[in-house]
Amino acid sequence: MVRCPFHAVLPDAVPVVERASEPDEYAFLAEAHGGKVPPGRLAVFRAALAEGLPAPLSTEELRLAGRLAWRNHARCIGRFHWRSLEVRDRRDVAEPERIAEALREHLVAAQSDGTVRSLLTVFAPPARSGASAARIWNHQLCAYAGYRGRKGAVLGDPKNTTLTEQALELGWKPPAERGRFDLLPWIIAGVDGRPRLFPLETGLVREVPLIHPEWPWFGQLGLRWYAVPVIADMCFHAAGTDYPAAPFNGWYMGTEIGARNLADADRYDLLPVVADRLGLDRRSNRTLWKDRALLTLNEAVLHSYAVAGVKLVDHHAASAEFMKFCEREQASGREVSARWDWIVPPMSPATTPVYHLPMREFTTTPGYRLQTPAWARSVPV
Ligand code: ARG
Repeated sequence: MVRCPFHAVLPDAVPVVERASEPDEYAFLAEAHGGKVPPGRLAVFRAALAEGLPAPLSTEELRLAGRLAWRNHARCIGRFHWRSLEVRDRRDVAEPERIAEALREHLVAAQSDGTVRSLLTVFAPPARSGASAARIWNHQLCAYAGYRGRKGAVLGDPKNTTLTEQALELGWKPPAERGRFDLLPWIIAGVDGRPRLFPLETGLVREVPLIHPEWPWFGQLGLRWYAVPVIADMCFHAAGTDYPAAPFNGWYMGTEIGARNLADADRYDLLPVVADRLGLDRRSNRTLWKDRALLTLNEAVLHSYAVAGVKLVDHHAASAEFMKFCEREQASGREVSARWDWIVPPMSPATTPVYHLPMREFTTTPGYRLQTPAWARSVPV
């Protein structure tokens, strides 16, 4: 008999019905065990699956699953570093208060004085198939409020208007004077689906004030961004089990902030502002005012993170690393699943080698997957 960490007592050998999806789900175990899965191990997983229980992965197996989920992620250009992912096994935690505590620990460890450590924290999966699990409502652990005003104007990050409204409804007290960069609280629901609010203590989230190496006026724009993107709303999937609460982070690539978050017309929309400060003529596209403003914003991001001592990669270095990653994967006999529109940087794309690389996306496991927003499944607030 084998006792799995979910307190189910499972017989050692269970008759299994072979299913086409099974080899894929468990193929990674061979890698976890240095090429050969110990006898009986697969039967344990299949038995759990047949009973509707979570896969009883050891902490070591979970760690490799987390790393492989990163290695597999078709949208990530940073996968060269997949081996460095640290995995925190918190499968014993499903209660919002304890999740919030573990999230604080995750964030502090990830920020780690600017070095930025890649981390995954895995919380309890559903106790059995069909049951619900705790969920983090935030898309990222660090994010700025977006307050919807009259006539569709938004103060802050328009990406986060829904979460901002939900937080306000749950009783969140924003700063007396609302600003463009107000950090949002966390909303965490336990297995009962009821959302609970966790305001962040001051100083928990590390931020970087944005300045430009040549333009002193840039600092007066009052722009900032947080140090580490921790994705909190994706579902980690491994060995046939979904982990709906499994936040993870890497470090930023400059263009994510400078060419998207601050530049997109439906985000902070700062290109016209920067172009005007640069004294560019915005009446014609052909002055390339957008391109020059974009360049200025991205120079500011790279410079500011370096000055603050916070790790952030530029898109040229990241592209070169991705090419190395692809070479290594090929040498290991694995095809890389990749999505061209996500891998290619949003700035000067054709100057990077990834632009010229044919890519194909296919389903892989373990993986980090999109899932239905938590609030769509919860009980009314
Ligand atoms: N693009 C997202 C953002 O700007 C973050 C996605 C994850 N990025 C990363 N470098 N791990 O906030």
